[in-house]
Amino acid sequence: MNAHTKIPDFQMDLHKNPVPEAERNRLMESLGFGKVFTDHMITIRWTAEEGWHDAKVTARKPLEIDPASAVLHYAQEIFEGMKAYRADDGRILLFRPEQNARRFNLSAERMAMPTMPEELFVKAVETLVSVDKAWVPSGDASLYLRPFMFANEAFLGVRPSNEYLFCIIASPVGAYFKGGSKAVTLWVETHFTRAANGGTGAAKCGGNYAASLVAQAEAYKHQCDQVVFLDAAEHRYIEELGGMNVFFVMTDGTIVTPPLKGTILPGITRSSVIDLARDRGMKVEERPYTFEEWQKDATSGRLQECFACGTAAVLAGIGTVKHEGGEFKIGHGETGDFTTALREQLVGIQKGASNDERGWSH
Ligand code: COI
Repeated sequence: MNAHTKIPDFQMDLHKNPVPEAERNRLMESLGFGKVFTDHMITIRWTAEEGWHDAKVTARKPLEIDPASAVLHYAQEIFEGMKAYRADDGRILLFRPEQNARRFNLSAERMAMPTMPEELFVKAVETLVSVDKAWVPSGDASLYLRPFMFANEAFLGVRPSNEYLFCIIASPVGAYFKGGSKAVTLWVETHFTRAANGGTGAAKCGGNYAASLVAQAEAYKHQCDQVVFLDAAEHRYIEELGGMNVFFVMTDGTIVTPPLKGTILPGITRSSVIDLARDRGMKVEERPYTFEEWQKDATSGRLQECFACGTAAVLAGIGTVKHEGGEFKIGHGETGDFTTALREQLVGIQKGASNDERGWSH
């Protein structure tokens, strides 16, 4: 093992004044998404000379970075989204964390950043969850974990940075959408696109989300919860939503979802949903699907339900689709039974209650 793959030990510098229990309980009473944060964070440094080193657990606090730090100028940044769940018997579980470690490294490679040994990534996540375990909510809520890494060399030349900072912060969360499990409304964006062939669409980099915001703002203007992006070449094929993958459930037992061709995020929830749907005897087709087909299938009744999925959103039924030429409903405009059943099964596995045949819980 060289300096770049050695697993460092974590130095523990715990918070001197963590949030008192009564205040923590009050904060956790009405959780939205990403507004409340735990007491601690993880940081690990990477330099070309030393590889991964200086691994620490500290109080969560503002980072001090040089104004010339490369990330502030050229956006060399990647992140992950994952959750810790409290099972009814008190165990704290992660869901497929090695998949997040793997995807993090794929994102790192695409963004010319150093990869991290999967073992170190998972150990860092486990360490933070263990230190902040009092913040893992029970019931429908969970502890959202946000590992991220950014270029931190003070240098204005355009080339991969020679220094990086990896961090993990954690946030107890409830439902991602304000309406909870109510079906969401989508806005189809026909002008702005998210990612082109050969671009960074499959990497979980901040830049993809920054580029999506103008279209997401357009969605809000039309009273929609999320934007739907079409492909960059022809503006015909459904790609993904602003922050989640999308599935189309047909009455004949077929499920269609856009394929992983490098322009959409390879969601871990997406891949889990495909496995669980196939277990239920559904035929899952990962294939291009046009906006035109979508409208036709919704109108003819062939399309039974649609849902969005991701770590933050879990599975969210799609009720109404708005676009420049009008709008259409999916089924009765409510979350469908298949979406509800699959969501319950997935959450059951994540919370250690349902049969976890594949050993996804950790
Ligand atoms: C996640 O689902 O974890 C994401 O990173 C997407 C974002 C919309 C919160």
